[in-house]
Amino acid sequence: MDIGIDQMGLYSPDFYIDLRQLAEVRGDDPDKYTIGIGQDEQAVPPSSQDVVTMGAAAVQQIQASIDAERLGLIVLGTESGVDASKAGALFIQKLTGLPQTARVLEIKEACYGGTAGLMMARDYVAAHPTKQALVIAADIARYGLNTAGEVTQGAGAVAMLVSAAPRLLVINDDSAVHAEDIGDFWRPVYTNQALARGKYSTEQYLRFFQLAWAAYKKATGLGLADFKALTFHLPYTKMGLKALRQVLPEADAAKQQDLLMHFDHSIQYSRRIGNLYTGSLYLGLLSLLENDSSLAAGDRLGLFSYGSGAVGEFFSAVLVEGFEKQLHGAAHAGALNARRALSIAEYERVFQDAVPYAKADYQTNPDYYAGPFVLTAVTGQERQYQAR
Ligand code: COA
Repeated sequence: MDIGIDQMGLYSPDFYIDLRQLAEVRGDDPDKYTIGIGQDEQAVPPSSQDVVTMGAAAVQQIQASIDAERLGLIVLGTESGVDASKAGALFIQKLTGLPQTARVLEIKEACYGGTAGLMMARDYVAAHPTKQALVIAADIARYGLNTAGEVTQGAGAVAMLVSAAPRLLVINDDSAVHAEDIGDFWRPVYTNQALARGKYSTEQYLRFFQLAWAAYKKATGLGLADFKALTFHLPYTKMGLKALRQVLPEADAAKQQDLLMHFDHSIQYSRRIGNLYTGSLYLGLLSLLENDSSLAAGDRLGLFSYGSGAVGEFFSAVLVEGFEKQLHGAAHAGALNARRALSIAEYERVFQDAVPYAKADYQTNPDYYAGPFVLTAVTGQERQYQAR
């Protein structure tokens, strides 16, 4: 039985900054950001946007394909959840009117949480072939003003509907995993800003990719020549390029050029949005599908997921006949082009107006209300959401 992704939805905040401007203000060479790191723009979430509002907006885009009778599982993968106990997916279920008869939960393992949800969904449908499962990978990547990680921030959500006989792509049951306790990136529960050993985390990402890729090749007998394109978790696009370059020598010159060309299509959205943590790999996948007109049914894609801490997983997917009819590239490009640019001073004000880690009531700023759902306030220590 073929199981995989039937539909994909994407939402990212309606505000962004130009990273060349950020470089100028921070006293860095803009080329470091656009070439050295590989990022052009960065989505800026106002405090009225969080993983719930963004996740719900991404779900809304694919809601027409969700069958209330068949939906059995709703999973939110996130590392910037809004509560240490309750699953953010429950807020999303209510905001979008999803059925109350599906299991609802949240998964955490840094940027790997979306993949963990996707694999759980795949296994769920394998056990219950008539059912659908909904996976939401949503995050706000936040390192802090004036930090080394600032240029690699971002925000957004990708929603994926998983079913048998999917209309987009089949996920193969061929994962190779490497998991190991390391201290490359973490976020204590009292802060919304991640702590990272930046250089070390990039080295670990590459090491985990090498280990997973070697294990994958050994188990499957496949190699680079069997893949049309490789996509990667993209904390910043240069990171994926570094990983791809590690394995390129395994291919001939023509194949190397081909893989680099496909990779370039896979980073278009990330260059403009930034890091989605759990959603980054799937933002890359969507960017590839919606921007690369040379893809065809039957093409095998490789996906590498990495979540600090750390878990790395490599797996493959195959495009199905008619996949291009399920995509919404023009709408996604239109939404990105319609965003409002913030000056760096305004971005800093928006950044600092975050929901505080305190008991006091808090109101979000209506001047920055955008998108179909907003967090209006936190009152009595409970979050108040609204559809607009
Ligand atoms: N023109 C072009 N490239 C330039 C440049 C310029 N003027 N100045 C610097 N660069 C290049 C560097 O050579 C380097 O490239 P390389 O990695 O291919 O060698 C790159 O830009 C980054 O420069 P570097 O000095 O290493 O950056 P940094 O010390 O500011 O840190 C990160 C970069 C990614 C480590 C930092 O942004 C970070 O900590 N991010 C968060 C953690 C993270 O995303 N980890 C990823 C794994 S999950």
